[in-house]
Amino acid sequence: MTKLRTLADMLGASWIPSLSMVQARLMRPFYRMTFLAAAARSGLLAELRGGRRLDRAGVIRALRAHARPELIGPWLDIGVEVGVLARDNSGAYRLRGLDGRLLAKDPSGVAVAGLLEVALYHRQAIMSAPRFAVEGGGLNHADQDPAVIARSTRLVQPLIESAVRDTVRDHEPRTWLEVGAGDGHYAQYAAAADPVLEVTCLEMQEELVDTMAQRFASTGQRSRLRARFGDIRDVELDEQYDVVTLHNLLYYFPEDQQCDVLERCRKLLRPNGTLLLTTSVPGKVTSVSALDLWFRCSDFGSPLPDEHGLEEALNTSGFRDVRMYRPLSAFSLVAVTATNPA
Ligand SMILES: C[S@@+](CC[C@H](N)C(=O)[O-])C[C@H]1O[C@@H](n2cnc3c(N)ncnc32)[C@H](O)[C@@H]1O
Repeated sequence: MTKLRTLADMLGASWIPSLSMVQARLMRPFYRMTFLAAAARSGLLAELRGGRRLDRAGVIRALRAHARPELIGPWLDIGVEVGVLARDNSGAYRLRGLDGRLLAKDPSGVAVAGLLEVALYHRQAIMSAPRFAVEGGGLNHADQDPAVIARSTRLVQPLIESAVRDTVRDHEPRTWLEVGAGDGHYAQYAAAADPVLEVTCLEMQEELVDTMAQRFASTGQRSRLRARFGDIRDVELDEQYDVVTLHNLLYYFPEDQQCDVLERCRKLLRPNGTLLLTTSVPGKVTSVSALDLWFRCSDFGSPLPDEHGLEEALNTSGFRDVRMYRPLSAFSLVAVTATNPA
């Protein structure tokens, strides 16, 4: 009788309808996404690639989890509960869900970086925006993992590559400066598109400059690709280039600095040289809106630019012949070229 009464009280509690709805529809996907992101970031997904199985001791060894190994068992159990992992009778874990197996299989790591960007940064921005609105404050550069950001921007890789190909074909540049080059992928792509093009990459995260230097050293174009550490706002470069590019970068600067940065890029171009700028613009895609909110929340950047604002900023910075297009109309990414007048 007492148990029946307790059960009735439990089921009749005012929070049960809303909690049941949240549990059924939101909590499991949230836990699942969080576990997948952690499995990707820790290296577990890669360790279990291709149907590989590891027992708990094997996972501890593979992840080098020697400081607090007792956390690994309960962590893996959550992975089993949310269906990312399965554990067989011998206690070995393997990937169970299709999402985890597909993420583990993709050698580019781009989808993993996209997942991490959502789980780490978009979630943080959506959670923090009301607090910042009330108390002030914002996110800073140190809150970002440069390797994740450099990789996640490659979600739009085919679109940016098409703009790079068009620029190489239409302008036949001999020298190319890539500003905020990330891991150097697009610089390397440009160098591969033209066998005599000399490419300089500027990047203000030392970790990424090292990544680029290693990456370029292992390619056949190493004599034509250079990685340089520096901030475009104050770095000293005494060359003028045929092309200067900014991919996924403009929103890293406050709005009141953007014209100065663009003007600085223009002065690094030889007369009639070409600026190529690619950027996401506001659209009706939630991940783009979250990217926009994330940079609005930062204490260093700005909202995603819109097409009209971009054109105005380029004209104010002394560029002429501003041309803007979407490599694929369904995507919120624009490519802009502009000329440094002679
Ligand atoms: C979103 S990532 C884009 C990386 C690369 N362009 C791409 O599209 O994959 C922006 C990069 O610009 C770099 N960056 C930001 N501000 C910079 C500045 N003032 N000077 C040089 N690099 C900068 C960041 O460190 C980061 O690696």
